[in-house]
Amino acid sequence: MEFSDKYKILLDKIESRIANIVPNIEPTNLYEPFSYIMQAGGKRIRPVLTLIACGIVDGDIEQAIDSGVALEILHNFTLVHDDIMDNSLIRRNRPTVHKKWNESIAILVGDVMIGYAFKLLPRYNQHQRADEISRIFINELIEVCEGQVFDMDFNESKKVGLELYLNMIDKKTARMMESAAAIGGHIGMANESELNALRKISQLMGMAFQLQDDLLDMTAEQVKLGKKLGNDLLEGKKTYLIIKAKELAVDTRDIEFINHYYNNNGLVESDIPKMDQLFKKYGIYESTELSINQLFEELMTYFKYLRENEYKELLSQLINNIRNRNF
Ligand code: IPE
Ligand code: IPE
Ligand code: MG
Ligand code: MG
Ligand code: MG
Repeated sequence: MEFSDKYKILLDKIESRIANIVPNIEPTNLYEPFSYIMQAGGKRIRPVLTLIACGIVDGDIEQAIDSGVALEILHNFTLVHDDIMDNSLIRRNRPTVHKKWNESIAILVGDVMIGYAFKLLPRYNQHQRADEISRIFINELIEVCEGQVFDMDFNESKKVGLELYLNMIDKKTARMMESAAAIGGHIGMANESELNALRKISQLMGMAFQLQDDLLDMTAEQVKLGKKLGNDLLEGKKTYLIIKAKELAVDTRDIEFINHYYNNNGLVESDIPKMDQLFKKYGIYESTELSINQLFEELMTYFKYLRENEYKELLSQLINNIRNRNF
């Protein structure tokens, strides 16, 4: 069977579970937007990772579906709130929840989603490691909030270097991938060395994933990406691109333009092409690609700690697809 067929089997399991998660009850102003965000066609990387991690340790992937979906709900909750924070108007090629409804609704939808996510985790009498799984999930919720606040705080800060940036994306993005794999591993009763490898692989993949996200904000095709291009620059985000540019720029005018970005918390739309030119001049897109590739190379070194089976093959193909993603 081809990778795409195997992947589709996992995806179908996730999608059919998601399809019957959101209740068709009052208040519709809560459950309609919940259903709207869940059905908008995300890549579903996190729940697929949960299933694959469970399969790699020869666990029963059917048992991992609900926890995978719990993570996908948690992820979608972060997107709904993130789009308020980032003033984003489009997600997955549709109006964001706070634009289609309003901010109060978007806040409450996010809140209720956390509740629904928790309901899907195994109870103490349903799985031997239910307690550990809850602990990982709770920790993930805390860390993503911490990461998101660092992300916002950095807008105001003039001295965010690579180290702070990497710590921020570890919390806001990479840890969710790590948690997805760790939870899947626990459901399959992974041993310690397998868990460590699963964690390392998915955390490094998550770091690369956010660098790609920063890069795609400037280089993707908008319709493929489903989000508005250049939004990070409009919002004054400290992305990998701008931090690298600040490090590498030497011409006075360029340094001034970057300082202008830092002092004004971002750019106006008409200045985006100018920043694109600056990024090109200093090879920022290439050096971001280089760092992304380094992360992918590093994570491959942990594959040797995993058992040989079809799920291991699937994981390496999933990672390869993410490595080549353009949306
Ligand atoms: C977007 O995540 C948010 C980031 C962590 C960069 P995805 O790119 O996985 O979004 P969907 O779920 O596929 O839409
Ligand atoms: C995503 O960061 C992090 C979370 C949603 C937790 P971004 O703000 O870069 O994600 P996009 O680009 O809006 O999807
Ligand atoms: Mg954000
Ligand atoms: Mg955002
Ligand atoms: Mg982004």
